[in-house]
Amino acid sequence: MAVRARVKVLWSVFLCLSSLLLVMNFSGAMWGKLDMGTLSLSSWQQQHVHQQNSSDAVLGRGDRLLTSELSVPQRNDTCMDPVTNFVFIKVHKTASASTAVVLLRFAYKHHMIMCYPRTSWGIAGFRLTFPSTEIYKSNCSRSKVFGDHFNFLVHHTVFNKTAMDAIMKPGTKYIGIMREPQSHIRSWFFYNRHHRIYKNQGHKNPLGEYLDNPEYFEDLASKRTRRTDIGVHDRNKQAFIMGFPPDLLNTQDTGIMDRAIWQLHQWYTFVIISEYYEESLVMLRRKMCWDLYDILHSTKKIHEQHTPKKYIPFTDKQLANHKRINALDYRMYDFFNRTLWKSVEEEERGKGFWEEVAYFKALVERVNTYCLTPKNERPMEVPSSKWNKPFSVTDGFCKGLSRTPKEWARRLFYQMARRDKIWKKSSLVVA
Ligand SMILES: *[C@@H]1O[C@H](CO)[C@@H](O)[C@H](O)[C@H]1NC(C)=O
Ligand SMILES: *[C@@H]1O[C@H](CO)[C@@H](O)[C@H](O)[C@H]1NC(C)=O
Ligand SMILES: *[C@@H]1O[C@H](CO)[C@@H](O)[C@H](O)[C@H]1NC(C)=O
Ligand SMILES: *[C@@H]1O[C@H](CO)[C@@H](O)[C@H](O)[C@H]1NC(C)=O
Ligand SMILES: *[C@@H]1O[C@H](CO)[C@@H](O)[C@H](O)[C@H]1NC(C)=O
Ligand SMILES: *[C@@H]1O[C@H](CO)[C@@H](O)[C@H](O)[C@H]1NC(C)=O
Repeated sequence: MAVRARVKVLWSVFLCLSSLLLVMNFSGAMWGKLDMGTLSLSSWQQQHVHQQNSSDAVLGRGDRLLTSELSVPQRNDTCMDPVTNFVFIKVHKTASASTAVVLLRFAYKHHMIMCYPRTSWGIAGFRLTFPSTEIYKSNCSRSKVFGDHFNFLVHHTVFNKTAMDAIMKPGTKYIGIMREPQSHIRSWFFYNRHHRIYKNQGHKNPLGEYLDNPEYFEDLASKRTRRTDIGVHDRNKQAFIMGFPPDLLNTQDTGIMDRAIWQLHQWYTFVIISEYYEESLVMLRRKMCWDLYDILHSTKKIHEQHTPKKYIPFTDKQLANHKRINALDYRMYDFFNRTLWKSVEEEERGKGFWEEVAYFKALVERVNTYCLTPKNERPMEVPSSKWNKPFSVTDGFCKGLSRTPKEWARRLFYQMARRDKIWKKSSLVVA
């Protein structure tokens, strides 16, 4: 209990510091140098967005593509090689911490080489380069033995395929995550203490008040902090972290939006949709050729906040304003949600997707119940199924289930360090 309390205190200290950092450094390199007016065309778009015809109804075409040529590849269920090179783009407040735990456990099992921050502060803060859109090898600590051949990255970053391809092993897959924008803002706003930034924390409904007149509050905040970007950077946050060109976040041109979304769609192996979490995990398992064991997760939510103010319903005006200033997030969420359901259709045809989801949900419940039971006499044996090899759920596994991403990252870090040491020793013996 004492440990738990201490962890809680440390966590709140971290939250305060990280929000402070967020506020201080949100206008970091990229926002500072990007002038929205003059820099309307980055090389990103020139390369990827404008190569197509801007008068096309791209979402329409996207739909056609989704159903025909670029639909989910026909996967052979006898797939043997699990994907062990991947990056998870951790979008804040989207169940990304729970997902990170699942992925970190997988990485630990497969002795993967993680790009982790150079400072111990980074391990503690679980932030790598966010909110910068750039990332370099020098941002990751090197393993003495394995150098910088990273095949795993799960800390907070902004997706930049060019930059990440350059630091990861070839063939790295990208996994993203998105949450329905209305529920996202409820978490994001209070998690980042935006009622403090907007100085309306005393109001009975700070989020609603902000959404009644977002420009007013953003303007106020930017004047107070003498920064021009504050507030505006809260718009389309998910799209930004998922790699949408930062200088186009406020575009009104749906053609440009759709082209960029389509490009991102091709770069991501899979985008988890928080609202359909179990379905998404099963889909992820199939796309990554993993065992069902690999996606078992705790049903206890990480970082859940209990602020009643968070749940006050929006008025029509507030909702309309939210949709107006986050049009891109809504559009992108809608696209990736539909993509998920298209994939589900594909995976159901003769491949028993729903059968697996039902089995998985029941298994997750059983495992969580087992793990919550104090003093289990013996491990829980899970027989093999179409989707998993037999395995046993032990106390050790249960402990892992409730570990935080930071604790897992630390374990993975020590695993890497230990291997460095062992390798050094054995090479000394050889010498
Ligand atoms: C803010 O960002 C700059 C450059 O990205 C960095 O040098 C500086 O240390 C950061 N400040 C804090 C407080 O993290
Ligand atoms: C763009 O559309 C116009 C008119 O439909 C067409 O003439 C042109 O060839 C298209 N360009 C490209 C690059 O597809
Ligand atoms: C799946 O792979 C196996 C072995 O490579 C092959 O024999 C089988 O025909 C494949 N099935 C489908 C549906 O492609
Ligand atoms: C990442 O590395 C670059 C180049 O070495 C450096 O300029 C930048 O500040 C680093 N970012 C962080 C968050 O440490
Ligand atoms: C992404 O990374 C590349 C290569 O490091 C860099 O040139 C580019 O500016 C980055 N994109 C953004 C939006 O920062
Ligand atoms: C996600 O997409 C499905 C299928 O198109 C739709 O029924 C559902 O309402 C969407 N969910 C949300 C939260 O928009």
